[in-house]
Amino acid sequence: MPLPLDPTRLRANFPAFSEPSLQGQAFFQNAGGSYMARQVIDRLAHFYTRTKVQPGDDYPASEEGQAAMDDAHVRMAAALNVTPDWIHFGPSTSANTYVLGHAFAGWLKPGDAIVVTDQDHEANTGNWRRLARHGIEVREWRIDRDTARLSLDALDAILDERVKLIAFPHASNIVAEINDVAAVTERARNIGAVTAVDGVSYAPHGLPDLKALGADIYLYSGYKVYGPHQGIMAVRPELAMQLPNQGHTVNEGRIRKILTPAGPDHAQIAASAGIIDYLEAVAEIAGGTGDPYRRAHAAMRAQEQALLAPLMDYLRGRNTVRIIGPTDPATRAPTVALHLSEPGAVVAKRLAKHGIMAAGGSFYSYRLVEDLGIDPHNHGVLRLSFVHYTTPEEVTCLIAALDAEL
Ligand SMILES: Cc1ncc(COP(=O)(O)O)c(C=O)c1O
Repeated sequence: MPLPLDPTRLRANFPAFSEPSLQGQAFFQNAGGSYMARQVIDRLAHFYTRTKVQPGDDYPASEEGQAAMDDAHVRMAAALNVTPDWIHFGPSTSANTYVLGHAFAGWLKPGDAIVVTDQDHEANTGNWRRLARHGIEVREWRIDRDTARLSLDALDAILDERVKLIAFPHASNIVAEINDVAAVTERARNIGAVTAVDGVSYAPHGLPDLKALGADIYLYSGYKVYGPHQGIMAVRPELAMQLPNQGHTVNEGRIRKILTPAGPDHAQIAASAGIIDYLEAVAEIAGGTGDPYRRAHAAMRAQEQALLAPLMDYLRGRNTVRIIGPTDPATRAPTVALHLSEPGAVVAKRLAKHGIMAAGGSFYSYRLVEDLGIDPHNHGVLRLSFVHYTTPEEVTCLIAALDAEL
């Protein structure tokens, strides 16, 4: 199988791959959280040992710590092709959307409408649905039950000038189809609405160019993109400044403070620059010239598609297995959810005996699982999720284990 990225060189960036206790264990639960890159671990250790003081004061350790946090904002923004005032670090994506929900409650007016989906993880839907308590109309953009797809026709049928927000996923953590974000953001702009895109399940496969996507809010989780346990949200600065301040009153108007009342861990903010170091390392392995982040993104996607093809070929040949979402690797992330005759978690437990780390359940997307006709609480799906650092040999082991257990 021709691979654009050399797995050995990629994996040299992850201490987990040389950890003795993890040998012989193939990791297929990356959608739950990826391994952490060495560059991130090094920056965390550096911050905790050298600059673990209050940042923003006038002594060297404090100045260095503050500079490391500022650098993380600048570099994260560059990778997303936006300016640093877009970037907000919070404790998790769920906490970030919770705060955004409160901010929008003070911004939208009774009679305004919003669009939510049943394809989303609860983090990007429950928070918005609660706006109904404030007199906001909540409209449902629902999946096609056969394909699990969110169609643009179904969206068009519920859009009008009263819609002020469309919240939807870049890719669901179960369906994994890559939704056409640019097509949705264009529709939103045409009616004067803003968009909140859950990129948590997409970002591990390459940070996107936010200018090209046109999203007003883009959310993802550091711990799934090789970094620390944080939620990162990019918010169009003009929108952020219009939203009511969610931070301390004294911080009114300070863009970095108004949407992150939890005051997230300084060391983890600084260490997030290690995610960008890692993406630059991927670009170097990929070779070529031009923007390293777009090169890393393209190479990661190409790698994943090559790795996913044999797994999809195998699964398509098993007629007792229902694959959720599309089977063409080019249109999806390598997060493969299967509806089986047995509960997903039961099969995942058996796979563990074969050295496969995977999981079953509904992964906080219980509305989706229910709408797919699967009991989200007692049955769920088996989810096999990988990223670009997975090897062809691991995929082969997975197929052998599935063959033994399905
Ligand atoms: C698609 C998706 N959105 C949002 C979240 C929530 O992210 P966090 O754990 O950072 O709150 C998850 C977590 O699994 C997810 O998979």
